[in-house]
Amino acid sequence: MDFRGRVFLAPLTKGGNLPFRRLCLAHGCEVTMSEMAYGYQVKKRSKSELALLRKHAEETCFGVQLAASRADDAIEAAKAAIDRGASWIDLNCGCPIHDIVKRRMGATLLQKPDKLGRLVEEMVAGIAVPVTVKIRLGWAEGEENASEVARVVEEAGAAALGVHGRTREQRYSRAADWGAIARIAAERTIPVIGNGDLLTWYETQEKWQQSGVASVMLGRGALIKPWLFREIAEKKAWEPTAEQRLALYLDFARKLKEHFRDDDKGRERAMRFLPWHLEFFSRYRPLPIERWQEASRAHPLIQTRMADDEPDLPLLERLLRDPRPELHQRLADLLWAAGDEGQLVEQATALAQEMRPVAGEIAEARVSNG
Ligand SMILES: Cc1cc2nc3c(=O)[nH]c(=O)nc-3n(C[C@H](O)[C@H](O)[C@H](O)COP(=O)(O)O)c2cc1C
Repeated sequence: MDFRGRVFLAPLTKGGNLPFRRLCLAHGCEVTMSEMAYGYQVKKRSKSELALLRKHAEETCFGVQLAASRADDAIEAAKAAIDRGASWIDLNCGCPIHDIVKRRMGATLLQKPDKLGRLVEEMVAGIAVPVTVKIRLGWAEGEENASEVARVVEEAGAAALGVHGRTREQRYSRAADWGAIARIAAERTIPVIGNGDLLTWYETQEKWQQSGVASVMLGRGALIKPWLFREIAEKKAWEPTAEQRLALYLDFARKLKEHFRDDDKGRERAMRFLPWHLEFFSRYRPLPIERWQEASRAHPLIQTRMADDEPDLPLLERLLRDPRPELHQRLADLLWAAGDEGQLVEQATALAQEMRPVAGEIAEARVSNG
């Protein structure tokens, strides 16, 4: 496993489900990662947790991310992941959610670098594949200790280090700090994987080159544009029409069907994901280099929600940008039932006509979706 020169799909709870990872693979992604799995739950053989370790045959380079605070949990869980084809194991040191923090896992590990160092050392000794660590810049602003954590992790034998350029408390409120990511990359000899706010091929290229990181990782950018991987590889944008995007979403619905099965139970399970993904898809906007390169330096394009209310948008384009949850549910139903692309376009057009937003509705839905 070479951690240099790669574009990683970030570990994404809920978003990094197997059908979505396959969609990314179909659009140029080569390195996938699992959703975060709790080490102690995998050790207990929890069915839902074991399901997170499952790899598809198309995934040739697949990392499993674990949340753990004890080495024995992590090592046992890693064995189960390796049995299922994991190429490497990543330790989560960034997750900010209450349940994780309460159990002294995730971002809390940043607060005790010595303990983290011992944990990584034991993992490296007990796990047969490379061990990587994914961190944030620190717990809170003013408490950034990523440089120290990175050193400890390298000395403990980690094969690579992922750095999300924010603190635990910042969540997504601030732009990722690529200057801080660059400093860590300069201080370390293990590959550093830079992560945060990459939504276009040109900002990825610029941040990658300027920061000197070995690799980059895409989270929300991939959730919004699963074809971002190919754009980065080809150094050019693909600005799909609404019809082309519908075809891609149909392909995703088919992959969900294949995974969860085409019956009532499978439909119910898939519907926990499909409308959720449609919300991310609805954030897509074309961001051509001529217009946005300068702006991307000043403001993360990932936060961009412009042009929603352009009066001249074609009906289908407006539908696919619409942030209203009830519409994502209706569109998900259409995608699940659709026979072919032609039929889908017809039905989606009828839906767009039926659900034309009334004034103010779009802005309101956008605020509630964050
Ligand atoms: C829906 C969602 C789920 C996430 N789940 C995880 C996770 O399980 N493990 C993890 O280390 N980071 C997780 N993250 C953080 C991402 O991996 C990534 O570090 C972060 O989103 C910054 O990258 P981006 O700006 O490209 O989105 C998640 C992010 C999102 C949006």
